[in-house]
Amino acid sequence: MSKSELEQYKQYASTRLSQIIPMLQRYAMGDFSENIEIPEKEDEFTGILVGLNLMLDDIRELIKAETDRAFRFSTKVDEIIDTIQTAARGDYSAHVKLSGKNDELDALAMGINMTIEDVGESIKEVERNKELLQEKIKDLEKSDLAALNIMEDLHETAERLEKTQAVIQQKNIELEKLSSLKSAFLNITSHELRTPMSSVKGYIQMLLKQKLGEINKDQKSALEVVHRNANRLDRLIQDILDVSRLESGTMKFIPKDANVGRLVCETAETMMYSAALKDIKLNTEIGKGIPDLFIDQERIKQVIINLTNNAIKFSPDKSIINIKAKNEQDNVLFEVEDFGRGIPKDKQDKVFETFYQVDSGTDIKFGGAGLGLAISRGIVIAHGGKVWVESEGKPGKGSTFKFTLPVKSVKDIEGRFKAIDIFGLKNNK
Ligand SMILES: Nc1ncnc2c1ncn2[C@@H]1O[C@H](COP(=O)(O)OP(=O)(O)OP(=O)(O)O)[C@@H](O)[C@H]1O
Ligand SMILES: [Mg+2]
Repeated sequence: MSKSELEQYKQYASTRLSQIIPMLQRYAMGDFSENIEIPEKEDEFTGILVGLNLMLDDIRELIKAETDRAFRFSTKVDEIIDTIQTAARGDYSAHVKLSGKNDELDALAMGINMTIEDVGESIKEVERNKELLQEKIKDLEKSDLAALNIMEDLHETAERLEKTQAVIQQKNIELEKLSSLKSAFLNITSHELRTPMSSVKGYIQMLLKQKLGEINKDQKSALEVVHRNANRLDRLIQDILDVSRLESGTMKFIPKDANVGRLVCETAETMMYSAALKDIKLNTEIGKGIPDLFIDQERIKQVIINLTNNAIKFSPDKSIINIKAKNEQDNVLFEVEDFGRGIPKDKQDKVFETFYQVDSGTDIKFGGAGLGLAISRGIVIAHGGKVWVESEGKPGKGSTFKFTLPVKSVKDIEGRFKAIDIFGLKNNK
């Protein structure tokens, strides 16, 4: 290229560059809105300018994409802030919408949604617990009330109990008075009855022995009936008197040395007449070496009489009754054995209770009030012994009433007697 041609080209290039530079300066300022104009006539700059324009297209597209993204981001952030505020006001159903693009904004939205849901659930849980707590408090209040009511009830019951106790105490005092009145009454009446009875019995005996004049056969048998019944009545009065003495603990015991063999034989003798009326044979059997006993003889005789009387009453005619006494270690054992109707096992303790009769319908006809065994039991216990019955409860096999008396006599029979509740009445007074 010649010098003038070079000068000419420099001129041309400078003109072209002066056209391009202002555009480049705009681009440097961030204004990519316009492309560089490309002259129709191609030269060395055309390629560069086309490349530059293509680059400008790319830059504009990039800027648009970035702007879009920034816009979407800020819209999303606004929505997220709105949603959080709604949730903060208590609406935990608030949700950030997902674009479905699965981008970082969706991930953020999902995270926020999950957090809101979790918080909502926790708040619900807290609410539920609060309700439960309130219910529990109500229940507690109710049970407090119930406890209060129960306390009041208890208080009332205690007051009522106190009143009832006072009434019972009063009744007890009245009963005690009545009971001692009853004992006194029984004592007096029995005494009052016994006195005329002995004169009745005395005169009957005189009549029977014909000391007041002769009597005929009919009169004699009538008088015998009267005599028997007077004796029955006398025994009954005696028994009632004994019961009241036993009950009040005022029974007198006068212990003396007694020969057992003689005592048994004498008693049997007094029973011979009653036994003979039924053709019953009374046997006595006295063991060897029985020591004398320090006892109230009359009372022990009364026991044997009661047992023998029963044996006669509940045995058939022409049967046998054995009265035995023998030494047995530290005791003397007495037995009254019969072959009568016997006593069922379940009644064997009961027969010793006052007024108890095994067959209340028929036994009364035998003449008796159900007192004999109760009295006998009291007397034996007072002497430090025991009394019981053995029987298979089968008719014909009979019963054996047994009692023991200690060889070494007990001291203070009366005092001992007062201490025992013979009839189980003392607790009921
Ligand atoms: N040997 C016996 N065999 C069968 N039953 C008997 C015998 N001894 C007593 N019992 C029964 O026991 C009851 C009570 O006897 P207990 O001697 O106490 O009274 P009682 O003989 O009926 O009347 P009381 O003796 O007062 O005259 C009798 O009524 C009778 O039912
Ligand atoms: Mg009897």
